[in-house]
Parts: sequence; structure tokens; C-alpha cells
Amino acid sequence: MEVKKAVIPAAGLGTRFLPATKAQPKEMLPVVDKPTIQYIVEEAVESGIEDVIIITGRHKRAIEDHFDKSFELEVSLKEQGKVDRLRMVREISDLVDVHYVRQKEPLGLGHAILCAKTFVGDEPFAILLGDDIVKAEEPVTKQLIESFNQKQSSVIGVQKVADELVSKYGIVDYSNGNNGTYQVRDLVEKPALEEAPSNIAILGRYIITPAIFDILENTEPGKGGEIQLTDALRTLLKQEEVYAHVFNGRRYDIGDKQGFLEAVVEFALARDDIRDDFKEYLFNYLQEELKEEFYSEIAALEKAK
Ligand code: UTP
Repeated sequence: MEVKKAVIPAAGLGTRFLPATKAQPKEMLPVVDKPTIQYIVEEAVESGIEDVIIITGRHKRAIEDHFDKSFELEVSLKEQGKVDRLRMVREISDLVDVHYVRQKEPLGLGHAILCAKTFVGDEPFAILLGDDIVKAEEPVTKQLIESFNQKQSSVIGVQKVADELVSKYGIVDYSNGNNGTYQVRDLVEKPALEEAPSNIAILGRYIITPAIFDILENTEPGKGGEIQLTDALRTLLKQEEVYAHVFNGRRYDIGDKQGFLEAVVEFALARDDIRDDFKEYLFNYLQEELKEEFYSEIAALEKAK
């Protein structure tokens, strides 16, 4: 069966990014001039997805407004003859059919996915986390769909992470495979490094069979008191084969301050209209900063003599 639907969970509280996320969703944080969630919807569309459902929660109205038509803005841009901006604004609301469902309480990623059960029905579907952007030549969801088409089983997007990051992610134990796709033996949510079966982490993209919904309905809260998708996938593994695909691309965790800042700098440096001035600014700024650090170290050494 073909993968035509995508679920984008965006109902989390975003506590790592407070106070910015007190009254606005982290999925609307702009990377340069585009909200995070727009990059993600664009990835879904470029991967052949035809219907998108966004799982929203409180304070998430801005997401719905962003993908809706904006009459006043369009009229104003038209009157001012700002044709390019008008086209850009229209393209957002014409991107794809976006549906919304509310997760009444943020009870975890697994619970958020369960909210999409009726929308998805009996089809395999994609999951793209609302705060993870992946910059890749071939959209990462497309890479996973290709792998799903070969295996006809659930495929999880993974990449190797540094040892100190293992306890932040779902970690995969895998066995034989080729072309970057491996059969999953086991999965653990946020293990301590000593207990982790590998340092291959689940990074925000999945293609999953609909069998996951019955499992989620019976999954008890796990780590952090939340209903974890990783726990449900572990049960799925007992019923069906599950694969991990090592995707190509650079992933940014926008819900994390460091990840967000890296994305802003790297996306700005990749933009023709911004790169030159921004690079010059960054270079001069860092040069001054390093100079100051150098002089204060020299001064400290002099003092210690
Ligand atoms: P995170 O764990 O990164 O989101 O979930 P969070 O809970 O908002 O983050 P912090 O730790 O408090 O900063 C990954 C994705 O799953 C969604 C989030 O919106 C994010 O896009 N999510 C998470 C839900 O939709 N519902 C939930 O109950 C939890």
C-alpha cells in the first residue's frame, strides 16, 4: 500500500524553550523567516504525501492560522503591488490539505499519534515530529517511504548519535541489513549509556503500519509518565517486522536551544540573499570575541606570574 498520509504531532508543551513557548507553539519558531512547521509540511509534500494532519493543543491557534488563507494580508499585498510576497503567502495555504485534531492533554508522543487514528484509518502513514527539521538532498520522509515500499513493514528513521546524547533518544538494537536498512531487534526509550544496546537513535521520522493504533490504546504510560511511541513500537516488533533506516541528511532539534541556533545560522548561511552580509558580520563578531578571550587569558597569566 502507498503512504499518502502524514501525522505531525505538535501538541507538546515545549518546556525546554520557555519563556518563548509560554503562549506560542515551538513549532512556529522561525528558522530565518519560515516557521519550523512549514519546513516539515514542505518535506511531507515533497515526499508525495497528499493529506497532513497536525496534532495541536492549547496555544496552537497560530499553526492553524499559518496554513489558512489570510484575506486581509493578501488584499493589502495586492494593493501595494508586492507580487512576490503575495505569491509566497498564497503558496503556504495552497501547499496541501491540512487537517487538525486536538490532543486535549499532552500525555506523550504515543498518545498524540493515537489522536490521528480515525484520520489515518487502515493505511500505513508517515510521522514527522513538529520540531525536527532535516536538511537533505532527498527529503528524509521520501527516503523512508522508499525503504517502506521495499520492506512493506514499518520503518524508523535513525542516525548515530554521540555517547553523551544516547540517554535523550529512543535507541535501536538492530541486526542484519543492507543499503542503510536494518531489521530492528529491540528498542529502548532514553536508556542510560551503560544500558543502551547501541548509539543508533530514532530521530523524528517514521513510516508505521496501522497496527500501531490498537497497540497504543493498550500502552501504559512509560518514561516521564507519558505514553511513549517507542514502547508501542516495541510491542509492534513482537507482531511484525520493523526496520530502521539510516537516513541521509542533517537533522536539527528545534525544540532545543542549541539545535535551534545551529539551524538559524546554517540556514541563513545557505541563503543567497542573506549569506554574504551575515557571514561577514559573523566573522567580525567572532574575531572580536576571540580577541577579547585571548587578551583576558594573557592578562590572567601575567597576573599569576
Ligand atoms: P518533545 O518531547 O520534543 O516535545 O516531543 P515537548 O514535550 O513539547 O518538549 P519539552 O521537552 O517540554 O521541551 C516531540 C514532538 O511531539 C509532540 C511535540 O509537540 C513535538 O513536536 N508532542 C509531544 C505532542 O504532540 N504531544 C505530547 O504529548 C508530547
